[in-house]
Amino acid sequence: MIINDIIEKLIKTHRLTIEEFEILLSHKDNEDVKDILRREALSLRHKYYGKKVFIRGLIEFTNYCKNNCLYCGIRRDNCNANRYRLTHEEILECCRDGYELGYRTFVLQGGEDPYFTDERLVELISAIKKQYSDCAVTLSFGERTRKSYELLKNAGVDRYLLRHETADEVHYQKLHPKEMSLTNRKRCLQDLKELGYQVGAGMMVGSPGQTLDLLAKDLYFLQQLEPHMVGIGPFIPHKDTCFADKNPGSIQLTLMLLSIVRIILPKVLLPATTALGTLDLQGREKGIMVGCNVVMPNLSPTVHRKDYALYDNKISTGEESAQSIANISERVKSIGYEIVKERGDYAN
Ligand code: 5AD
Repeated sequence: MIINDIIEKLIKTHRLTIEEFEILLSHKDNEDVKDILRREALSLRHKYYGKKVFIRGLIEFTNYCKNNCLYCGIRRDNCNANRYRLTHEEILECCRDGYELGYRTFVLQGGEDPYFTDERLVELISAIKKQYSDCAVTLSFGERTRKSYELLKNAGVDRYLLRHETADEVHYQKLHPKEMSLTNRKRCLQDLKELGYQVGAGMMVGSPGQTLDLLAKDLYFLQQLEPHMVGIGPFIPHKDTCFADKNPGSIQLTLMLLSIVRIILPKVLLPATTALGTLDLQGREKGIMVGCNVVMPNLSPTVHRKDYALYDNKISTGEESAQSIANISERVKSIGYEIVKERGDYAN
């Protein structure tokens, strides 16, 4: 099948086979191909979301983690990480600040910290939902039992982010310690969907050992799973990990993948990620210009921001700070889009 037929099929059916995704990705340096994908992505984005860009206040509530993912700066074995955990009150304060700034979605993200039991999480979520009943709460807190996901859903969590990281078993094992498995990741994502969450999956671009055929598998996996949200950002090395001397992922390839994801999942909530903004000063704008419709500025207490270092040089101040909303709005406006102060749910 030649590339033109593949693009035509993608635009018409929003679906490709793994082999077709692979051929499409092999054209990653072809500007004409990327331009067609970008234009189609934008037209779909406009159809469902117009020029709106949704904002999420990101609260990084703990950097303790029981996992030891090889790529991640807050992995258990990193003894250089300065560990912190926000209190119930501190988290509610972040929400209060965020609410005043106009945020109507709070994303609570943390390492897999056993301190936050179901009981503590339920208490926390219930308090947030009680005080801010017009807001959505997204949790990004790793792998849990189905029972736990059910309790959290009942406590009011609306959305859950759990990147699959890679859809290939062998590659998954290269990125994670042996206690972790792709099978369990997939089980979690399935449970979350069945329980009625708006679910987010996703992967890093350029993670060590990743090849284009593996990214083709990721795209196929996303197409089959049909998540409501997809997080994609370039891999960025962290100095205290086994991957310290690896190269970061490609911005250009990340942008191409974002537009493909918009085409296979037209209504997807697609953030221009912090990793994209870290690697490229214009990353967030570039993301929006290929089909992204979400930004997630940092709402964590300023003193702890530098400690939530998943990778080196992670941005958290200036444009990345939730407090810079006026600034962010201006930048987004300058490229023809509009930050809106809404919950920003998945389009129906
Ligand atoms: N580079 C880029 N992204 C990373 N993440 C973790 N470590 C890194 C890194 N070194 C991403 C993972 C995780 C999300 C919270 O952050 O994909 O799911």
